[in-house]
Amino acid sequence: MTIASESAVVSPTASALGTEWWRSAVIYQIYPRSFADLTGDGVGDLPGITARLDSLAALGVDAIWLSPFYTSPQKDAGYDVADYCDVDPLFGTLADFDALQNRAHELGLRVIVDIVPNHTSDAHRWFQEAIATPAGSAERARYMFRDGKGASGDLPPNNWESVFGGPAWTRLTEPDGTPGQWYLHLFDSSQPDLDWENPWVREQFRDILRFWLDRGVDGFRVDVAHGMIKQAGLPDYTPTPGGSMGGSGSAAEGVSLEPGISDHSEDQPTAPFWAQDGVHEIYRDWHTVLAAYDGDRVLCAEAWVEPLSKLARWVRPDEMHQAFNFSYLETPWTGPALRRIIDDSISAFASVGAPSTWVLSNHDVVRHASRLALTAENPQGAGIGPNSAGLPDPDLGLHRARAASALMLGLPGSAYVYQGEELGLPEVIHLPDAARQDPTWFRTNGERYGRDGCRVPIPWEADAPAFGFNATGESWLPQPEEWAGYARDAQLGVEGSTLELYTALLALRRESDLGMGTLEWITGLGESVVAFTNAGITVIANTGQVPVELPLGTVLASSGPVIGGSLPADTTVWLKLAE
Ligand code: GLC
Repeated sequence: MTIASESAVVSPTASALGTEWWRSAVIYQIYPRSFADLTGDGVGDLPGITARLDSLAALGVDAIWLSPFYTSPQKDAGYDVADYCDVDPLFGTLADFDALQNRAHELGLRVIVDIVPNHTSDAHRWFQEAIATPAGSAERARYMFRDGKGASGDLPPNNWESVFGGPAWTRLTEPDGTPGQWYLHLFDSSQPDLDWENPWVREQFRDILRFWLDRGVDGFRVDVAHGMIKQAGLPDYTPTPGGSMGGSGSAAEGVSLEPGISDHSEDQPTAPFWAQDGVHEIYRDWHTVLAAYDGDRVLCAEAWVEPLSKLARWVRPDEMHQAFNFSYLETPWTGPALRRIIDDSISAFASVGAPSTWVLSNHDVVRHASRLALTAENPQGAGIGPNSAGLPDPDLGLHRARAASALMLGLPGSAYVYQGEELGLPEVIHLPDAARQDPTWFRTNGERYGRDGCRVPIPWEADAPAFGFNATGESWLPQPEEWAGYARDAQLGVEGSTLELYTALLALRRESDLGMGTLEWITGLGESVVAFTNAGITVIANTGQVPVELPLGTVLASSGPVIGGSLPADTTVWLKLAE
């Protein structure tokens, strides 16, 4: 066996860019509904999070990102905000938020909150005022109201579809009871899109950002950061089949994934509601709002934009700091695809001086412990459920997930970890229909399962009610019985557990500062092997079915047993090579 080093791919993080924490941070996503529930009502809350923060510090992450906890009717699990500057009673109070943030900061964890600027809830005062005033009012101009087509205006203004299924327009009943104008909602009908061409809207959001920055947050994850500006004239749009999110995809493909199908290098025509050039002016403005504060505050874009060279525009030096690398998340578990996406990611982000990010799971996609055992023949953007074709083999999924995580955490740049992946949690497939809550499920009449399967409350204690999620046993989505085996306390201190694997990898990552390292490829181990060195650590992932002979060295960590110097299928190892 020969091992040859290829010319180094220089990571931007390796250059002298100062101590900007976010360039190398591991950021843990907390989904408040499902993390920990102190009140026992079955929905997680902020005091529950505070009480459990120590375990995240022990895990070794650098920051937390909190999905929305703001005042909301919860039609889209809190991504339908009715008051951006208050906490929903379901989750607690502003004082609870302050306590959470203080504790996090004491533990050395930064705190990123979610901001949802593309749309509000229809319960937001702005929208309620808009529908209480006549067409043409200043209040209506906050949103995307339009007259309908046809003689009596009873056809929607254009043919756009909602990401969650069905038309993206809903017709109002005017205050006098007559059928009236239509409003645009790229998501649920309870989530009207704001009109970001309106300076009033921009002013409100500057104030909202300052409200949270004044409270001390370290940054924002920006929801639907590619959707806020729509093409002038709102032209009809028919998506190309097989396209993905940022390019030719329809709104209906907004949070969909098609592993192995989309070509991440292809610059496809842009839908008139995604990735319009006008969004960048907004982020330049926000950049200056953040820059006026001390302490290195950040913006992270949730922008489903492809290819990566286009996504890089979101993280130019005067815009956001990070963007989620969904192209990486969508990459199938094969050597060539992974090597290509890693190269493309590092170079695309480097071209604008930004770090690459890496992510495998979040609250919108099938958990990677299940997804990586699905096949390309089984598109899974709609979520998976009991009637889905080709359900994943749980053992294969977990095996691959651990290997994929060990590969991701060895890369330079910043990585995101979604709550529960450190426990190896799979997607919950057998949720009863009656329990489902994702608007996607309702808007498609059950045709698409949606995202509930990745949002089930996480297990802390094997033998406690609701596995320690709370003390009452209530849970807004039912937890599968077998989750006792995944509980944190069942894994803590247990050699070879997924929790111990993550803890070991994160400790090594921090010790060797892998986030700020430089990736250097190692070749010669075979097509299915992804191998590189980063800051003195050699990471080797075997995506194939045949064991691979390892170079001589000391095993620092491994996603599965390494026996007799050979690396089994679907396993990743971190080595210190022999001199
Ligand atoms: C983002 C969120 C998702 C939400 C949607 C609408 O994609 O991550 O959960 O449903 O925006 O706000």
